[in-house]
Amino acid sequence: MITKIENHPMRGNNTMRIDADCSLWIDFTSEEDLPVISQLIDGKPYIILGGGSNVLFTADYNGVVLHSSILDINVAFNNDKVYLKVGSGVNMDTLIEQCCKAGYWGLENLSGIPGEAGASAVQNIGAYGVEAKDIIYEVRCYDLLQNKFVTFNNAQCEFDYRWSMFKRDDTRYRYAITYVTFELSQKAEPKLEYSNLKEKVLSTTDGFSPMLVRQAILDMRNAKLPAVDEIGSAGSFFKNPVVPQDSYKRVCDISHKKWGIDCHVPNYLLPENKVKIPAAWLIEKVGLKGYVHGNAAVWHLQPLVLVNHTGKASADEILELEAIVKNRVFDEFGIILEAEVDHV
Ligand code: EPU
Repeated sequence: MITKIENHPMRGNNTMRIDADCSLWIDFTSEEDLPVISQLIDGKPYIILGGGSNVLFTADYNGVVLHSSILDINVAFNNDKVYLKVGSGVNMDTLIEQCCKAGYWGLENLSGIPGEAGASAVQNIGAYGVEAKDIIYEVRCYDLLQNKFVTFNNAQCEFDYRWSMFKRDDTRYRYAITYVTFELSQKAEPKLEYSNLKEKVLSTTDGFSPMLVRQAILDMRNAKLPAVDEIGSAGSFFKNPVVPQDSYKRVCDISHKKWGIDCHVPNYLLPENKVKIPAAWLIEKVGLKGYVHGNAAVWHLQPLVLVNHTGKASADEILELEAIVKNRVFDEFGIILEAEVDHV
């Protein structure tokens, strides 16, 4: 079924809670709707939106916004493996909770993550040592350019850090995702490498289960991240910068001069001699943790997150705060922060 709404206010469709309208909102509930929608949008500017948890509407959107409400979930088993073909409009955390209750391993580390199944593939969402790419088996889409259904396997999705083929300039919004198939397991396959997750999970005596890991993850998230239904935010606003060794060394030299030789710059070594530096650390060090700019703020518990803390922030206030953070980090460390959040 297709639902069309003209001049639709999208405040409720973006977790940053920015007031922005689109010219036409189109919601669809099944694959059969897509050939019809393809004709409806023919030649018009359009975007595809999931749960709106990774976007910043910088102004009203003068075009069509497509949203999937395909909500069915099909389950198939092959030995220990469980294949869940999940409608692109399914809320990720609802899915994760159901999987944990059923005893399926694979999604538990992503517990509490906002957003919908379709966007999980576009964005290759990740948290606490797991990325969507680790469990995505295939992605089914409607190709709005060639008007046909197409299925991409994991490799064809070209997943990378918060990246997939669906974000490439030449394919952006070309494919309307209808189903994402996740490959989970009934065999215990916990991923507990992140920080002190292992100690947290093993310290309980309740028996070992995906539900237990889920609870530990939710506790960690709640301790640091704002609840999106209470405080407007889009999760991590910036990517963690990946820099060459010499840039990392420069950050260390600057830090040692400023805060003493004991100052340790957290880092994760990556292939090709690259280093990932946590943006949260850089932002904290330039003194912006908890910084307030009108109705926008740098979250006081996790500075990677920008929030609409009063619920009244305009897009401009968020953009100004983004610029303040980027400039301060660049002036201090010579590191360019890149937004993780899509600007529309
Ligand atoms: N840190 C600070 N100060 C702080 C918080 C963190 O210096 O106030 C430093 C610490 O050194 C810490 C490091 O930052 O060890 C990394 O922090 P954390 O592990 O909490 O994660 P993150 O790098 O800040 C990433 C993802 C999150 C995901 C967490 C947990 C990105 C852009 N963000 O954040 O994803 O939940 O890891 O795995 O990669 C999202 O994408 O929206 C998101 C929330």
